[in-house]
Amino acid sequence: MCGIVGYIGKREAYPIILNGLKRLEYRGYDSAGIALYDGSGIQLCKTQGKVSDLEQKVSSHINTTGSLGIGHTRWATHGVPNDINSHPHYSNSGNLVIIHNGIIENYASIKKELLKRGYTFQSDTDTEVLVNLIEEVKKQEDVKLGKAVQIALNQVVGAYAIAVFDKNKPDEIVVAKLGSPLAIGIGEDEFFVASDATPFIEFTNNAIYLEDEEMAIIRLGREVRVRKLKNDKLVDPYIQELKLNLEQIEKGGYDHFMLKEIYEQPSVIKDTYRGRLLAKKGIVKLGGLEDHIQKFVNANRIIIVACGTSWHAGLVAEYIFEDWARVPVEVEYASEFRYRNPIITEKDVVIAISQSGETADTLAAIKLAKQKGAFVYGVCNVVGSTISRETHSGTYTHAGPEIGVASTKAFTTQITVLTMIALRLAKEKGTISQSNYMKHLHELELIPDHVGEALKSDEKIQAIAKVFKDAANFLYLGRGYNFPVALEGALKLKEISYIHAEGYPAAEMKHGPIALIDEQMPVVVIAVNSNHYEKVVSNIEEIKARKGKIIAVVTEGDTTVKELADYIMEVPKTVESLSPLVTTIPLQLLSYHIAVMLGKNVDQPRNLAKSVTVE
Ligand code: AGP
Repeated sequence: MCGIVGYIGKREAYPIILNGLKRLEYRGYDSAGIALYDGSGIQLCKTQGKVSDLEQKVSSHINTTGSLGIGHTRWATHGVPNDINSHPHYSNSGNLVIIHNGIIENYASIKKELLKRGYTFQSDTDTEVLVNLIEEVKKQEDVKLGKAVQIALNQVVGAYAIAVFDKNKPDEIVVAKLGSPLAIGIGEDEFFVASDATPFIEFTNNAIYLEDEEMAIIRLGREVRVRKLKNDKLVDPYIQELKLNLEQIEKGGYDHFMLKEIYEQPSVIKDTYRGRLLAKKGIVKLGGLEDHIQKFVNANRIIIVACGTSWHAGLVAEYIFEDWARVPVEVEYASEFRYRNPIITEKDVVIAISQSGETADTLAAIKLAKQKGAFVYGVCNVVGSTISRETHSGTYTHAGPEIGVASTKAFTTQITVLTMIALRLAKEKGTISQSNYMKHLHELELIPDHVGEALKSDEKIQAIAKVFKDAANFLYLGRGYNFPVALEGALKLKEISYIHAEGYPAAEMKHGPIALIDEQMPVVVIAVNSNHYEKVVSNIEEIKARKGKIIAVVTEGDTTVKELADYIMEVPKTVESLSPLVTTIPLQLLSYHIAVMLGKNVDQPRNLAKSVTVE
């Protein structure tokens, strides 16, 4: 997820764009850049680092006059964060310059064709390919920029919000959108373009939000012209009058980043498997895995090292890998693994999971595993992070920046990647039947919709939160694939509401914890359709017999548990091995609402940091 800003109008573009980028940094902050039309040519400056680093560099590198410009703050998906991969990107001729938020899935094949036609590339990005495709179309079809953008975008697969201008036509900016947000601010003799309204809300509260597969030619002195990319039909755009304030817009209208990120899960899970999961064709293709698949096939075992929520994702992966790829898996707290002199051999594959890619204990565990000859594979969210560079290979989640300290979308996108790895490995080893393999690919593709359905119970969950917000303790119980989800649900509650909570395998109750049960003890039980369902129902009955209060996560339509539980939170049906991706949703919402009702600082809970870079 990146931030894009553009301006054309009566004012100096530079200060508007720079300030706009600062307001969009929550969307991505690993590199930034700006391109301005100075009256005769393009002044472009870009740098790895934050917008403040760009500001420093601009002051000594370019002339900042001009009333047309575009700017970008990056969250890398293709190409590590460095100066060259930062946006904006020039076309080969230097006439066009583009900024882009999204992922062009078929950029490699387009790049190959453009290379044959003599194009050269400075960066590793999909965006530089796109601007040169537009240039090639413009040349070959002898059309204006707007038409060239339209023809080019009908050849790409993926997600984009782009802004592009031609130095030979400095009275217009062309924008287009599919899958990534793009707002057009309508001012007096001036127009703004941005990922959301924060960069222009002080100048105008009139905005057009482009719909998917729409483009707009923004030209001074006339109305914005919006067209459908597919059939070129003119669209009569709806100009919204914005009522939101700056802070609300940064959070997408949500009260907290955590809630925004909980609601982003349907789209970021889709982003994470976009271009990698081709369910109908029965294909999983992970760039970082293909060259090393035999290491996984021949591995004696897989050791997963991580911390916190990422460790819980690893526990889910243990069930998936052992179930489908039939390879022994051990899941280790990185902080323990690194000090206990573990037995590691060249026949081991280590998977390191980390949202930030900077967790000190996980990094240390990786170094130890490499010293002992293991092949180390990373699953990170931050491109170019230390862990992603320290591992031999890896797969990035495409969750975008996770600002809330409590991990939510990181957890579900990590499980999405780990599931794809396990299914790809099972297919390679022949340990999964073709029908099961295809069924799981199909179900994985449906998960974003299922997560969206689970989110619709928000209000009901809020009412449950109100009943239990003053409890002193909680128990979270789950079996099988949902035992790790019980642990994760307990962690969510602990870290943002400061209520003590413990996650347990449901069957373990009888080995001690059941002594805790009384009418003061809320027990969250994950009781979705599974091989253990009847056993979990028995556990619920045991708790009820001791007056425990039951909050059950059930498969929608469940009638048995509904009779037993005090409260239920329904989730859509899916295959058991993918159920953690939906059962975690109500638990995230429950902890969020309890914390808000208790007046806690949800996005920055006490004593915590987003990334634990110290031991
Ligand atoms: C989870 O909500 C916490 N934010 C924390 O447990 C986190 O998952 C852990 O510190 C690991 O961080 P990482 O994924 O960035 O390595």
